[in-house]
Amino acid sequence: MKTVDTNSEWAVDASGLVKTFGENRAVDGVNLRVKAGTIYGVLGPNGAGKTTTIRMLATLLKADAGSARIFGYDIAKDPQIVRQLIGVTGQYASVDESLSATENLIIFSRLLGLSRKEARVKAEELLEEFGLTEAAKRPLKHFSGGMRRRLDLAASLIARPPLIFLDEPTTGLDPRTRNQMWDTIRKLVKSGSTVLLTTQYLQEADELADRVAVIDRGRVVAEGTVDELKQSVGSSSLHVSIQNADQIGAAKELVERILNVQAAVSAEGRKITVPLADADAVSDLLLALRKEGIQSAELSIQKPTLDEVFLTITGKGAKKEVES
Ligand SMILES: Nc1ncnc2c1ncn2[C@@H]1O[C@H](COP(=O)(O)OP(=O)(O)O)[C@@H](O)[C@H]1O
Ligand SMILES: [Mg+2]
Repeated sequence: MKTVDTNSEWAVDASGLVKTFGENRAVDGVNLRVKAGTIYGVLGPNGAGKTTTIRMLATLLKADAGSARIFGYDIAKDPQIVRQLIGVTGQYASVDESLSATENLIIFSRLLGLSRKEARVKAEELLEEFGLTEAAKRPLKHFSGGMRRRLDLAASLIARPPLIFLDEPTTGLDPRTRNQMWDTIRKLVKSGSTVLLTTQYLQEADELADRVAVIDRGRVVAEGTVDELKQSVGSSSLHVSIQNADQIGAAKELVERILNVQAAVSAEGRKITVPLADADAVSDLLLALRKEGIQSAELSIQKPTLDEVFLTITGKGAKKEVES
């Protein structure tokens, strides 16, 4: 394999990517910039256009409009070079189920031009790295979902690509296996790889990603570090529980007047929730509640979760816990 210069600051630099399927603009002008050596999360619900975006970047699907460079190489003009620079998971399905994990990895390595000996060493290394050594001799058909996913990732790393696309690497995995996968992904980046992963899990983006693009209906609706996204939703929220349910109406009015915002009251009628822009106002509120003789049972301030960020940005999927 000839060496390709990967000294570009940007592992991915895409602008205005579009893909239409019939009437459906699956990807509707996506811009993405992924710094080399980082983990980048593309976060979005089912059908948002994540896989289609990855398939275009990986040269598996032609973009209708827009352009992208992978380590400076244009996906349309230099697809051959781009393919040498990337690994894509999710293509392992075609391998022989009756062969063992070792045998499968050796076949892949041989296909990539490694010698018999190199292929064996590589397979062993990867199985060790992915905690699959014990299962290595078992035929694939006896593998659990998590083991398959790890073997899939292992196979995509045989060529040590500098950029790895992981399309929903942990969807459907149990929490323990998910944690193992996260460790593996962190290790990859420590060893110098760049990872672009898609996920539906806000926690996953929170755990792994240096930066995140939130994608909804084919468009990037927010971009930044996880902290920036949380801040963009602005406020934390304040929750006040009232001891005497009869006073909830008066308490709500008071909260709204002092904090100058709309308050929501929980279904069981004891808890008031409001966005909190200014934490200093909490002491004013406490004083006012006491003055009015309203006993609060509990008071807490919550920082926004990534879930709330997502809901605020996309305005979708919110389970109404509170009603106005
Ligand atoms: N090959 C295809 N043919 C037609 N429609 C497709 C195809 N691939 C994806 N789509 C549609 O494009 C939209 C985005 O899909 P996809 O990129 O798979 O989303 P995600 O990976 O975020 O779940 C969906 O509405 C999906 O039904
Ligand atoms: Mg997908």
